Amino acid sequence: MSKDLEEVKAILKKYKQEHLLNGFEKLDERKQKRLLEQIKNIDFDLISKLYEDTKKEIKNEQDKITPMDYLDKYKLKDKYKYYEAIGKKAIKEGKLAVVTMAGGQGTRLGHNGPKGTFDIGLESHKSLFELLSEGIKEEAKKYGVTIPWFIMTSRENNEETIKFFEKNKCFGYQKDKNLFFFKQGELPMVDTEGKILIGEDGLIKEAADGHGGIYESLVKRGMTEKMKQMGIEWVFIGGVDNCLVKMVDPVLMGIAIDKKVTVACKSVVKANPHERVGVFCKRNGKPNVIEYTEITNEMAEAVDENGELLYGESHILCNLFSVDAIERMGAKPLPYHSAFKKAKYIDKEGNLVVPDSPNAYKFEAFLFDAFSVVDEMAILRVKREEEFAPVKNAEGVDSPETARKLYKNFYNL
Ligand code: UTP
Repeated sequence: MSKDLEEVKAILKKYKQEHLLNGFEKLDERKQKRLLEQIKNIDFDLISKLYEDTKKEIKNEQDKITPMDYLDKYKLKDKYKYYEAIGKKAIKEGKLAVVTMAGGQGTRLGHNGPKGTFDIGLESHKSLFELLSEGIKEEAKKYGVTIPWFIMTSRENNEETIKFFEKNKCFGYQKDKNLFFFKQGELPMVDTEGKILIGEDGLIKEAADGHGGIYESLVKRGMTEKMKQMGIEWVFIGGVDNCLVKMVDPVLMGIAIDKKVTVACKSVVKANPHERVGVFCKRNGKPNVIEYTEITNEMAEAVDENGELLYGESHILCNLFSVDAIERMGAKPLPYHSAFKKAKYIDKEGNLVVPDSPNAYKFEAFLFDAFSVVDEMAILRVKREEEFAPVKNAEGVDSPETARKLYKNFYNL
């Protein structure tokens, strides 16, 4: 241990992060070991760079942004049945799996526990996880198959998520047979001076590395390998917080197969040109998403000859990938974006600090930054009222109240 300790001290001195060992003597032996391990695993050069980047204004002005073509699910005419038949065949052959990204912290919702355990207030009091499980099972029944379900958790919520599933008999699924949990990666949080934080447990304060961590985690945790062994070729990846998500969609799959693309995404048309959502676009000729913070007013309002918004297809985290595309995306490091968040921490004097306003940077990768790995992808516009009811905020827009209303309208409850 003392050799390890000396090694770690040298690293910390180099990066001016010596404070990380301030509380070392007070930790028990197990935690001391863990802390040293954590420090040895930190990529300090990366963290310093990410911190320095928080001070720079991000300019993507040199990027060439152009609109991306899309298909409207309800304007496919006779092609609808054609694509649907192709997709149905692949589903019946057991080629589809679904992934739910449930590693987020859900800070805006403020629910105490993993977001998937949240009850949106239906009379049935079903949790988001239960609503999602029903959506998959109902569809799977139509094809006489079980659709394997993979759930991405974070270190923070993994145990609680698995316990919740076990308490609910895994909603009819069988753990490690057709239900798999895997943890996403993490990165340390830093304060406004670039100092890495120590959390309440005396260890490095780490936070999930964003939904963009999905590809690397699927590969590193052996999930893509498992999928291949199970004969799976297509994977739908969605968020945990859209209670109307339709993960099993033969039309989307049929389009991907027929058009020979390895990524096919669903979109809903923007509610208005200035809705605060990211929209699909091409960036320097490659598929991408442009954030509402990046788009100019002129671009947001531009329309085509039919009066449709040129940048109107919102990215709703409903994306289908071939296993091969996931593996390629997982092999390419994604850029990290910083978010300024509230984070409890232990200060240099060993006191717990509970901030009432944001005090620390969290670094996250975005799932859509990997889209540029492929040259082409298909976009399918679906109806918002059928497929998109997100639970993001405690109240107001995209809240339990709005999601519940949309859910009830769709299912005539
Ligand atoms: P959001 O970006 O809306 O984040 O995630 P969030 O954690 O749910 O909520 P806030 O921003 O803290 O309020 C969209 C989807 O991506 C998943 C979330 O669980 C959600 O399903 N996600 C996000 C992860 O799985 N891991 C992450 O690191 C971030």
